[in-house]
Amino acid sequence: MSHPNPSSTAYDKLRARLAAEPRTWLVTGVAGFIGSNLLETLLKLNQRVVGLDNFATGHRRNLTEVQTLVAPEQWANFHFIEGDIRNLDDCHRAMVFPGEKASPVDYVLHQAALGSVPRSLADPITTNGVNIAGFLNMLVAARDAGVQSFTYAASSSTYGDHPALPKVEHTIGKPLSPYAVTKYVNELYADVFARSYGFNTIGLRYFNVFGRRQNPNGAYAAVIPKWAAALLNGEPVFINGDGETSRDFCFVANAVQANLLAATAENPEAKNQVYNVAVGDRTTLNALFALLRDGLASHEVEPTVQPVHRDFRAGDVHHSQADIGKAQRLLGYVPTHRIVQGIGEALDWYIGNSR
Ligand SMILES: NC(=O)c1ccc[n+]([C@@H]2O[C@H](COP(=O)([O-])OP(=O)(O)OC[C@H]3O[C@@H](n4cnc5c(N)ncnc54)[C@H](O)[C@@H]3O)[C@@H](O)[C@H]2O)c1
Repeated sequence: MSHPNPSSTAYDKLRARLAAEPRTWLVTGVAGFIGSNLLETLLKLNQRVVGLDNFATGHRRNLTEVQTLVAPEQWANFHFIEGDIRNLDDCHRAMVFPGEKASPVDYVLHQAALGSVPRSLADPITTNGVNIAGFLNMLVAARDAGVQSFTYAASSSTYGDHPALPKVEHTIGKPLSPYAVTKYVNELYADVFARSYGFNTIGLRYFNVFGRRQNPNGAYAAVIPKWAAALLNGEPVFINGDGETSRDFCFVANAVQANLLAATAENPEAKNQVYNVAVGDRTTLNALFALLRDGLASHEVEPTVQPVHRDFRAGDVHHSQADIGKAQRLLGYVPTHRIVQGIGEALDWYIGNSR
């Protein structure tokens, strides 16, 4: 007879439970970076997954890559809907896994949104339509379907201009960008739905998530993929400001863990809350550049590029570091990767996908 390992984490136990009793999940934004990582983990745990995406910033190649990483019978547990969260019918349609294995969705992991502070400054109307009207559609559809929980991607940008470090969930400042407004409005709507309809919503304030399948291309790419690609291609790396801006970079496996723990949380105190999802570390952009350069050197790629400093970017907060105590206490969240381990895994992927 096997005995449970006393040192196993809440996440270890949850994965064992899910593998033994598969559930049905909806992942919106499934063709994006975080969504496709959620999909990969869930399928590997033999879960049924409905995915919704309109390919605004996500890519079919992310889904194809996940297909190569799971067994054919696990891939058969995935049902993809090409649709838009701004269309309420698409949101309703996504609440059931159809066909022979028909089953209503138990847990929603809502990731679909238009990310990026600069994108929201350039086009606040589209960001608002997707991130607020689309979010509200998803809440309504999930409420109507009677799902067990609605876990959604919130953001550390909600801390806005509040200077306190580390960031604790109940102390926020004024938003510094249209994007930050939308993510804060998500929290307000989720809270009102919880109060008004007895609905279970959990917001995860991600802090600079990074890892495989994060898009390195385009004007709105995040710093780690953008710099990794530039270093690999011998292109210039720009540091906005003096490089002493700092962030709590969070490897995607930690964000995936937080989603699964949040969605399935049974402790009433853990429900209808927002949580920081990060590591609790603080890394400056200068230190990040050195980490990437050294990480590539250990992969026998010797970048020769020196960073170029330019102006600080509008709408960005200067420093960010999370207090992750609340997620640890109420969800049993224990990050598995600090930045160094995460960078190693991410670079493996960027090197393999740079051509
Ligand atoms: N990556 C981070 O560091 C970070 C930090 C804080 C919050 N977030 C939030 O996490 C979520 C996922 O971000 P990501 O980094 O994976 O970005 P991403 O751009 O890779 O993924 C977003 C996905 O949503 C899809 N989408 C956009 N508009 C849609 C619409 N109208 N209908 C259906 N699908 C739509 C996109 O096509 C894409 O696949 C977003 O809500 C983002 O705001 C991310």
